[in-house]
Order: sequence, then C-alpha cells, then structure tokens
Amino acid sequence: MGRRWYLERRKDYYYRSAKKHKYRSRASYKLLQLDNRFHIIGEGDKVVDLGAAPGGWSQVALEKVGDSGLVIAVDIKPIKPFQVDNFHTIKGDFTDEKVQGKIGELLGGKADVIISDVSPSLSGIKDIDQLRSLELVESVVKVAGRFLKKDGNLLVKVFQGPGFSELLKKLKRSFRRVKSTKPASSRKGSPEMYIVCRGFKGLN
Ligand SMILES: C[S@@+](CC[C@H](N)C(=O)[O-])C[C@H]1O[C@@H](n2cnc3c(N)ncnc32)[C@H](O)[C@@H]1O
Repeated sequence: MGRRWYLERRKDYYYRSAKKHKYRSRASYKLLQLDNRFHIIGEGDKVVDLGAAPGGWSQVALEKVGDSGLVIAVDIKPIKPFQVDNFHTIKGDFTDEKVQGKIGELLGGKADVIISDVSPSLSGIKDIDQLRSLELVESVVKVAGRFLKKDGNLLVKVFQGPGFSELLKKLKRSFRRVKSTKPASSRKGSPEMYIVCRGFKGLN
C-alpha cells in the first residue's frame, strides 16, 4: 500500500472509530450495521467466520453471541486470539478438507450462522478479482451446505460482476429470505456487496 492509501485511511471515519473503540478492523462496522438491520446473529449462537483475519467480524460476533455462544474463525493468515474460552481459530484454507474437518470437530454439530467477509488477494485486474471472489463464495456456500443447521443464517461478501445474479438465484433456492445490500461503512467505489441469507432450507 502506498503513502496516499495510509493518509486516506487516517482520515476515514470508520478506521478512526475502530481504533477508538478497539475493534480490530474497520470491517467490524459492516457486520455491526448489517446485524442491526437484519438480526443475523443471536445470543448463544454457534458462528463460523470464514476468512476472518484480523478478527474484526469475529469480535463483533463474540459480542453478539455472549458467553453461551461460540465463534470459530478461519483464515490462511494467523488471527490473534481473544482472551475468552468460546473463541477458536483455525489457520488454514477453508476450502481444504482437513480444515473443514477441524471446523466440524470444534462445532460438534451444526452452526447457527456462517459469516464470510472473504476476499481473494487482489491482482488489481477487476475481472480476475471478481472471478476469484465468486469462486471463494461458491466454496463458502458449500461449507454452509455441510455445516449450517436448518433455518440457519449466512452472510457473505462478493464482488459484483458476471455470475452475481446466478449466485443470488442459487441462494434464493436454498434460503427462505435473501437480500443483497451494501452497508454505509462499505466504501462507495468498492465492488463489494453483502448477501444476507436467512432461513436455510438445504442446498438446492
Ligand atoms: C477482508 S479480510 C477479512 C476481514 C475480517 N472480516 C475482519 O473484520 O477483520 C479477508 C480475509 O480472507 C482471507 N482468505 C482469503 N481466501 C481464504 C481461504 N481460502 N481460506 C481462508 N481465508 C481466506 C484472507 O486471508 C483475508 O484475511
């Protein structure tokens, strides 16, 4: 990242607010805003966060689930633990069978909610990045097919472009309510969209 990026970031409201409120990333505000509107995570829920580093979404999820819930955070990058017993991290690629096996062991059953703010490492070439984002989201949906309980919720980020409407159609077949949205804290020029899926019926 260049000097201009760092200067812009220092001016950014959500970046400064995240620092002030000790959130690990400005992305925490995206989950806070989406959850306030759509009530995705409830107290006592078991949540799996796919593509979770540095942990801003997991932090918000921990606040929402409280002491009786559980948050499992997966990323290829290391995630610093939070000093609580109900938070687990897995370092690895969530498309990998072994990593999914660990998710299953830690869950000891099904998840109430799966959240994923996953991003590919960006090439800067819009079409390639969009395609990679779509592939990752397809993998997230497969993980949901394996671990999400009936009536559970899924929140996933995707870069808009070709294949987006087919993805929405697939999700609409598999969940009772599906809504694509962009929270206020998502940067205006960014291609990212968030898909909120509630009431899992099974993959269709
Ligand atoms: C935008 S960041 C997530 C930020 C996070 N929601 C937060 O609030 O701190 C996207 C993450 O996806 C991770 N990622 C990309 N592909 C992955 C994969 N196949 N398995 C696990 N993590 C992946 C990246 O390493 C990166 O940390």
